[in-house]
Amino acid sequence: MKHLISSEQFTAELLHELFVLADQMKSHPRDFDDILKHKVVATLFYEPSTRTRLSFESAVQRLGAKLISTENAREMSSAIKGENIMDSIRVVQGYCDAIILRHYENDAALKATEVARVPVINAGGGTGEHPTQALLDLYTIHSFKGKIAGSKVAVLGDLKNGRTIHSLLKGLALYSDIEVFGLSRKGLELPDEYIHYLNERGITYHALSSLEDIPASVDMLYHTRTQTERMNGEQAGSGEIIIDQAAMNRFSDQSLLMHPLPRNQEITPEVDSDPRAIYFKQSENGLFIRMALLYSLLTDEGKKMREEE
Ligand code: CP
Repeated sequence: MKHLISSEQFTAELLHELFVLADQMKSHPRDFDDILKHKVVATLFYEPSTRTRLSFESAVQRLGAKLISTENAREMSSAIKGENIMDSIRVVQGYCDAIILRHYENDAALKATEVARVPVINAGGGTGEHPTQALLDLYTIHSFKGKIAGSKVAVLGDLKNGRTIHSLLKGLALYSDIEVFGLSRKGLELPDEYIHYLNERGITYHALSSLEDIPASVDMLYHTRTQTERMNGEQAGSGEIIIDQAAMNRFSDQSLLMHPLPRNQEITPEVDSDPRAIYFKQSENGLFIRMALLYSLLTDEGKKMREEE
């Protein structure tokens, strides 16, 4: 793994190594102050971001590397003058040791790898994948539950456009005895390719039609917002699945509520104080797992760790 483009590149062993490293970085952050001190990392974001860009940029700086960044590359880089992504990557790679790329096209990061000499990390591509979000989601499940195998997971919301869902499901498929329940409003169902991906790996996907159909003993509820920006005028509001305190009360004390954020109205603010609502801790974990990923991709020790898998 020189580049990280898809959750399909993960193995359970590699994830475990990253979780252990992320735990060390969380508990002893000062031990890692200088490990990337001669590196320069570029963040190229063609779509908006709060968590992914800022946690990566914080990770870069906490590891002692330098950062070059373009926050609104669609309008504020030479993309506005017609430069294509391949040419931009050919140029930017000359200035840095890794490129963290968010793009509105599903395959932009993959295309970037055709010309990039330096590692490219997919920080979210269109409606396709968001593998570093899957990393932090799986790390969060592992941290709270002590294991991922055997989990019953309900994914809710925009299963069609939600790239975090797509990457999470591919990551979950690495573990044994996973069961997945899906609930979306009509028209936003999980695309068949992801259902097939799960089925081919022995995982049953249950497409549900109401919140009441989700087993009360589910281990994780993973909600997502409706991605209205990708909808060409479709009505976004009708049929939204709302998790409020009354909905949470149906589930067991052990049922954790996750969300990649940002949220809109799909989780009501009253739920934030429920101890099972872990979405803000989940987003904080993004910093440590992204530090671990950068270490793994950019240092000889990290490369050795992956070769030993
Ligand atoms: N979860 C996530 O990708 O958030 P941002 O769009 O704010 O990076």
